[in-house]
Amino acid sequence: RKAVAETDDRKAAPVAPEELRSHQWYGTDGLRSFSHRARTRQLGYLPEEHLGKPVIAVLNTWSDINPCHSHLRERAQAVKRGVWQAGGFPLEFPVSTLSETFQKPTPMLYRNLLAMETEELLRSYPVDGAVLLGGCDKSTPALLMGAASVDLPTVFVPAGPMLPGHWRNEVLGSGTDMWKYWDERRAGLIGDCEMGELENGLARSAGHCMTMGTASTLTAAAEALGVTLPGASSIPAVDSGHDRMAAGSGLRIVELVKQRTTLSHILTADAYEDAVATVLALGGSTNAVIHLIAMAGRSGVKLTLDDFDRIARTVPVLADLRPGGRYLMEDFHFAGGLPGFLSRIADVLHLDRPTVAHATLREQLDGAAVHNSAVIRERTEPLAEEGGVAVLRGNLCPDGAVIKHIAAEPHLLRHTGPAVVFDDYREMQRTINDPALALTSDHVLVLRNAGPQGGPGMPEYGMLPIPDYLLKQGVRDMVRISDARMSGTSYGACVLHIAPESFVGGPLALVRTGDLITLDVEARLLHLGVDDDELERRRAAWSPPPARYGRGYGALYQDQITQADTGCDFAFLARQGEVPDPYVG
Ligand code: FES
Ligand code: MG
Repeated sequence: RKAVAETDDRKAAPVAPEELRSHQWYGTDGLRSFSHRARTRQLGYLPEEHLGKPVIAVLNTWSDINPCHSHLRERAQAVKRGVWQAGGFPLEFPVSTLSETFQKPTPMLYRNLLAMETEELLRSYPVDGAVLLGGCDKSTPALLMGAASVDLPTVFVPAGPMLPGHWRNEVLGSGTDMWKYWDERRAGLIGDCEMGELENGLARSAGHCMTMGTASTLTAAAEALGVTLPGASSIPAVDSGHDRMAAGSGLRIVELVKQRTTLSHILTADAYEDAVATVLALGGSTNAVIHLIAMAGRSGVKLTLDDFDRIARTVPVLADLRPGGRYLMEDFHFAGGLPGFLSRIADVLHLDRPTVAHATLREQLDGAAVHNSAVIRERTEPLAEEGGVAVLRGNLCPDGAVIKHIAAEPHLLRHTGPAVVFDDYREMQRTINDPALALTSDHVLVLRNAGPQGGPGMPEYGMLPIPDYLLKQGVRDMVRISDARMSGTSYGACVLHIAPESFVGGPLALVRTGDLITLDVEARLLHLGVDDDELERRRAAWSPPPARYGRGYGALYQDQITQADTGCDFAFLARQGEVPDPYVG
């Protein structure tokens, strides 16, 4: 394989120093430029260290509270090392961190805030190109949404998966095995001593969740889109290769600036189709549906739920990764990583499109191979014949819903049962274990007011808990439906993202306990067995709940948030429109 800096064959006359966007700040003969140069001296730089060089913003989502990004301070140094060596001038910008584990009610409430911060920061400072460091769930789409709206040359540095978890000679997946052993504890099968050991063993190093959860899914999508270096997304966070990838990204971004390869050259409709195919063939997280639709929107590409369903029918699931399968991201990495994986679905990809590293994806995949077909299956031995997410329609979800059917017990994929309705998550938590509810494994658990507005922020409540007494009877899965999302590390027959959500009057708001609900994944159907007249009567009696926020960011959010089927972007960010150049000279 050629070295990173040698791999591009796009031949344009390189950008001259006066053409750089940052020239307006540093290079003109005016009071402002004088002031900017004086202030750069104040920062301790000589003129020859920065004048005429591409300014590269290194956007860092590191924080003391984010265990998935705790190594990104050092990685930013490696990026800067690469930028310096390629003749650029790196400047690191701390941006807000979205920690899936700690931020409440859910970092999804703040994805668009980081996207706004990314966009406005890149626009308002003297930036010629950007390197984005993130990986924990929403940070990947947030950074790329903001960057796409600015359209500078951009490279994404994925945070990389943490090391595999370990407990008593068992390999653990973060998230996935946390849910599993919490259920084992509720079933009375393990005690506090074991839980203490699990606490030590579940998450052993810096890095994002090492299952094919939302983080791995979205960083793989970023690589499939072509905005990372080849193979970047699966490199374990603490592997020295991760530092080398970061340095390589620094080298590469300077070349992209010189070649004028902005993000819109990479983030094309073809690229988004390939990212969808990748996510589905990985058996990736349902959250990717919302995020890719939102990201595409920022790129001026219309991606819909129907595109997911259409593409799902063209790709098999080939990655045997938890939560749907057996292995973890480190296994995937050594099995060939995403380049190896993409080589197995190359027939459905658009191979003539560019990436940040190569003139074509075809060239990028040249020589890519799979080294372990247990982890990345042969096409003749798929885990599922069709992609891992199905899009449902029906009178309960006129604008769609999704289910990750490969992570559900197969007997539930065609099921009719009586609804048990919970109006809010906390009420459900309080009452779900009450034997008076007399739930059976046939019941359909329904949670509402957990969508983009109702949650608020569409929390990952969608894997509703199975009552303790059913767990003790050996029940491990039930049909559960909601307008919430589900963690990418979760599993079960969970219908998610019902649109429109109940909080804004979607039909989910009209369901009553005892109504029959039918799920039929093969027919792509979610049906409420109540006739239209009765639904109209219920609608007439329904009144919208009071707004969640009286002021602040939440008020902006509830005013602007769109529904799940269109990606939950803010309406004023998703729309097309001119933004003036900020430089006033
Ligand atoms: Fe950060 Fe899972 S908690 S990726
Ligand atoms: Mg997650």
